Amino acid sequence: MAYTNEQIDALVRDDSVHKSVYTDPDLYQLEMERIYGHAWIYVGHDSQVPNAGDFYATRIGDQDVIMVRANDKKVYVLYNRCPHRGAKLVPDGCGNTGKFFRCPYHAWTFKLDGAHLAAPMKSGFEGTCFDPKHPDFSMRQLARVESYRGFVFASQAAQGDDLKSFLGGVITSIDNLCDRSPVGEVEVAGGVFKVWQNSNWKVFYENLHDTMHAQVTHESSVVAARDQAKEMGEMPLELHIMDGNGEPYSFWEKLDLCAYDNGHGYMEGIFNPGAAERDPVTRAHFEVLEQAWGRERALEILGMNRHNTIIYGSGSPHTVFQQFRVIRPVAVDRTMIEIQTFRLKGAPEAVFKRSLMYANVINSPSSNVMADDVEVYKRCQDGNLTHGGDWISLHRYLGTDRVVPGGMISTNGTSELPMRNQFRAWKQYMLATKTEAVHAA
Ligand code: FES
Ligand SMILES: [Fe+2]
Repeated sequence: MAYTNEQIDALVRDDSVHKSVYTDPDLYQLEMERIYGHAWIYVGHDSQVPNAGDFYATRIGDQDVIMVRANDKKVYVLYNRCPHRGAKLVPDGCGNTGKFFRCPYHAWTFKLDGAHLAAPMKSGFEGTCFDPKHPDFSMRQLARVESYRGFVFASQAAQGDDLKSFLGGVITSIDNLCDRSPVGEVEVAGGVFKVWQNSNWKVFYENLHDTMHAQVTHESSVVAARDQAKEMGEMPLELHIMDGNGEPYSFWEKLDLCAYDNGHGYMEGIFNPGAAERDPVTRAHFEVLEQAWGRERALEILGMNRHNTIIYGSGSPHTVFQQFRVIRPVAVDRTMIEIQTFRLKGAPEAVFKRSLMYANVINSPSSNVMADDVEVYKRCQDGNLTHGGDWISLHRYLGTDRVVPGGMISTNGTSELPMRNQFRAWKQYMLATKTEAVHAA
């Protein structure tokens, strides 16, 4: 159905949302236009395309795009479409296209910034209005591309906030991720995991700050970790991380959930960095940071104990374990999660190995922990297709969250503030009024 603004407005209440936001393909299509067609969306990290001709083909919403490094060292983001008959220029994934793109269909070629280079058998165009200089005969660039510390974002809208203003309060998570390197730089390394989820994309964002689910949904992996630790007579970090979900409600209640404009936010940490100081990997890491920045700054950098950050529409960077879980909607009931792991340039290799371990234990397709979540996401998708009810409750701790400059902070870490915050942004995008702040004045 075609939705009026009034109908969209009625789907999101202060304390609940209508289930059709997860199940209606027409609303999903509208999201692709109004959210993914406007917001800054993370494309990839520039370390994925270090040399001229390197490309990474991915998606922004329902659009196939290519991030490519050109001869001038600049990174461009282009639609993955040949202007002749529309064929995708490169397959999904990464590679090097050489000095130019060459279409696999009729061999039109394009410079690395997308400009038309040549079409074979030129004489065939004589007497026509074919003009190789006209933009219709070049690959099209996305309207805006900006990079922050190597993280490349693109927007399909010609106008709007710049990237820094869009990111607002969560830019500090990208900073902390990079500052953990003694030279302040990171690179994607170790490949990219992909996890298919048979559920709507928004469910994953909500789950990232859903502290009430941890000990319930993850009971089986918590029990497995505890059994294993008992058998081993110790609890190594791998099991400690799995066991973390088993903390009682009283633990989660004390965490701060920070919600910012545009649906973004982060959760203040779970794993205690004080305890980690006793571990040799963290100690070695601390030493290289201390050498680079001095003791006080090194303590500050490693002391930032932040768990999942949400960049709404893009995914979730994790500062402590150096990863970015990129969330790519594929259909109303299908979502692809790409897990990128980062090496901190100049840091001990053991820190990178620990990041890989975290990705394996928590996020990979073979993770015991992720399997718990994927199962409940699918159950939400299926349950919401029944006639068993129409509304989804987001009542927990409504009205108690504190307003701070640029956003809000929960007074209780089990608050459903993050979900309410995400849907406030969702509504603004979908009503095409996405210029005002989402937090209360
Ligand atoms: S479709 Fe690309 S050259 Fe024909
Ligand atoms: Fe979970």
